[in-house]
Amino acid sequence: MPKLKNDTLIRALLRQPTPYTPVWLMRQAGRYLPEYNTTRARAGSFLALAKNPDLATEVTLQPLARFPLDAAIVFSDILTIPDAMGLGLSFGEGEGPRLERPLREEREIRKLLVPDPREHLGYVLETVRQVHAALNGKVPLIGFCGSPYTLACYMVEGGASADFRTVKSMLYGRPELLHHILQVNCRAAIAYLNAQIEAGAQVVMIFDTWGGTLGAAEYREFSLSYMQRVLEGLQRERHGERVPSILFTKGGGGWLEAMAASGCDAIGVDWTIDLGVARARVGQRVSLQGNLDPAALLAGTSAIRAGVAATLAAYGKGAGHVFNLGHGVIQFTPPDSVAALVEAVHELSPAYH
Ligand code: CP3
Repeated sequence: MPKLKNDTLIRALLRQPTPYTPVWLMRQAGRYLPEYNTTRARAGSFLALAKNPDLATEVTLQPLARFPLDAAIVFSDILTIPDAMGLGLSFGEGEGPRLERPLREEREIRKLLVPDPREHLGYVLETVRQVHAALNGKVPLIGFCGSPYTLACYMVEGGASADFRTVKSMLYGRPELLHHILQVNCRAAIAYLNAQIEAGAQVVMIFDTWGGTLGAAEYREFSLSYMQRVLEGLQRERHGERVPSILFTKGGGGWLEAMAASGCDAIGVDWTIDLGVARARVGQRVSLQGNLDPAALLAGTSAIRAGVAATLAAYGKGAGHVFNLGHGVIQFTPPDSVAALVEAVHELSPAYH
C-alpha cells in the first residue's frame, strides 16, 4: 500500500498541524478545462465518460497534471445511485440531469431497492481503483455520494427544480413516503461509500446540495438525520488509516452546530458565511472546508489573490482549514485563474501555521 507523500488534506481534516493550508476544488475536473472537453467528446457524452473507468481516470487526473492540488476527487456524479436504482438517468446537451422514471406513485416507491454497488456501480469502483493506483500516494483520493435528501429531490422531481414543489409536497403531505425513499437512499449511500473506501478512497464527502432549501426543523428531520445515519454506517478506517468524512450542505450556514454534532470530521461551507464566525461556532469539534465564492475566479489574478488572502485571514491561525470554493468551479472559469488560486493558497497560507 503506497504511503501518502502529501497527507496535508487528511491531517487538516483531522485538525492536525500542517505546514500550509491544503487546497482542492469541487468540480476541479470539468468543462472549464479544454482537455476535459476533448476527453468528453471522445467518450460521446458526460454519462459515457463517467461510465468508462479508463476515461474517468484520465479526467480525474487532468487537474492534478496542471495544478499542484492537494487532493483528487473521483470523477463521477451523485446521480449514479438513482441510475443504479433503474430510474433512467440522462443529461441533455446544455441541460441539467433528467430521470426518465421519477418516483410519484406509492407503488413505485415501495418497490425501490438498494443497489449492490459491486453489481450496479462497478464502473465507479473500477475508476476509484485505477485512480488510486495511478496516484501512487501522491495525494489522497476523495470518494463521494449525494445526501439521501438531495438524491430524493432528483428522484421525485425527475430533474433540477426552481422550487422543489413535488418533493416538498410529498414532505408535507405524505412524509412517510419520503421517509421510505430516504431510508433506501441512506442504505444505498452507506454501501456505496464503503465500497469506494474498500476500492481506495481515503476521504469521503457527502454532497447535500439541496438540504439548504429546507426549513430548520425539516432539515434536521429529512436531511441531517439521514446523513448522520450514513456517517454511522461508514467504515472509519482503511488499512489502519482513518478515513475522514466531510459533510457539505449548501446554504447550511444556519445549522453548523447541528452539523458539527453529526459525527463528521469536517463541514464544507459556502461563501454566505464568514469562515471566522463558522469556526467560532463549531469550536474544536470539526474542521472547515471552503469557502471562496466560485465567481471570484471570474475576476483577474489580483482579485483572486485578495479573495484567497481574505478567506485565509477569516479562518485565522491554526489547524483545521481545507481551502476550497463554496461550490463547484464555474464552467466559464479561465484555467489560469485556478492556477492563481492554488498558488496564492500555497504562498499565503504558511503564515497561518
Ligand atoms: O468535483 C469533481 O471534480 C468530481 C466530479 C463531480 C461531478 N458532479 C461531475 C459533473 C461531483 C463531485 C459531482 C457532484 C454533483 N452532481 C452534485 C453535488 C455538488 C453540486 O454541484 O452541488 C450534484 C447536484 C450533481 C448533479 C449534476 N450533475 C448536475 C445538476 C449536473 C448538471 C449541471 C452542470 O454543471 O452541467 C451534473 C453534470 C456534471 N457532473 C458535470 C460534471 C463535470 C457537467 C457535465 C458535462 O460535462 O456536461
